[in-house]
Amino acid sequence: MTGTATVMSVWVLLSVGCDALTCYVDDLSPRAVGDSLWFCVFLSTRPARKMVFQIKVEEAAELDLQGSRDFALENLSQPLYTWVATSHTGSSEALDCRNATDMELRGHDVSCPQIYAHATAVTQLSNLVVNLREGRVSSFAWDNSCSGCSPSKCLKSSQSLSEENFTEGSQFFSKGTCGESADFCIGTPAACNLKVFVTWAGTDKHGRNLVSAGSRLSKLAGPTLSSFYNTLKDGYSQASKALGQ
Ligand SMILES: *[C@@H]1O[C@H](CO)[C@@H](O)[C@H](O)[C@H]1NC(C)=O
Ligand SMILES: *[C@@H]1O[C@H](CO)[C@@H](O)[C@H](O)[C@H]1NC(C)=O
Ligand SMILES: *[C@@H]1O[C@H](CO)[C@@H](O)[C@H](O)[C@H]1NC(C)=O
Repeated sequence: MTGTATVMSVWVLLSVGCDALTCYVDDLSPRAVGDSLWFCVFLSTRPARKMVFQIKVEEAAELDLQGSRDFALENLSQPLYTWVATSHTGSSEALDCRNATDMELRGHDVSCPQIYAHATAVTQLSNLVVNLREGRVSSFAWDNSCSGCSPSKCLKSSQSLSEENFTEGSQFFSKGTCGESADFCIGTPAACNLKVFVTWAGTDKHGRNLVSAGSRLSKLAGPTLSSFYNTLKDGYSQASKALGQ
């Protein structure tokens, strides 16, 4: 069962400057199952953009980031990344996941960078597992794989982004994320908005175990996953035909 995330804002274009990337939207008290938690989703446009979401702990939710496709297709010459932050004080730059100190200091506030689009392909869906420890976010894990798609549609994420201009670092995660060809996205107006499927692991403030991460997509076997991506693709084609586009 998938819940619906509450979208609290449209994309906000962040001004240029050191303090521009922040995500302080709610108090930081520990949460129980069913309580709401706020997140910011960032996009590495220049300047960056963010959108704010509220999701209930332990409810699997799909964030549909409306409008992101236009940013992805606007400039395919530079890779576009996303990352997620929980409400926190301080700056919300994507985590440097080559750097153990950064992961230790900020891993409970922000996620590693996750590729959304590059010159030839655009991801369709990214899985995010939110780990809670006694009701507080302890870490984020992007949990994707390319077992459902061909190598040409497998996008790899850099482990870090430059803080100045979001240029990719040279070290990449070994597991990729399935995408669709940029040509398909350009030709199919309803397709290719960034979607983030959120599930939960760990414990809430009463020590109850969160189990929704057990239903995350990477648990599906390759053939199931590839038929899932095809369904997603057909869905877009049908939707855009219905729109007469
Ligand atoms: C697209 O990105 C490239 C590389 O960063 C940059 O040189 C170029 O000016 C950008 N084009 C537009 C239209 O933003
Ligand atoms: C690693 O992260 C820490 C904490 O954010 C930072 O102070 C340090 O400069 C980083 N090291 C490198 C090599 O980037
Ligand atoms: C991005 O910033 C880095 C410094 O962090 C610099 O070395 C690099 O040339 C810049 N790249 C672009 C495309 O501006």
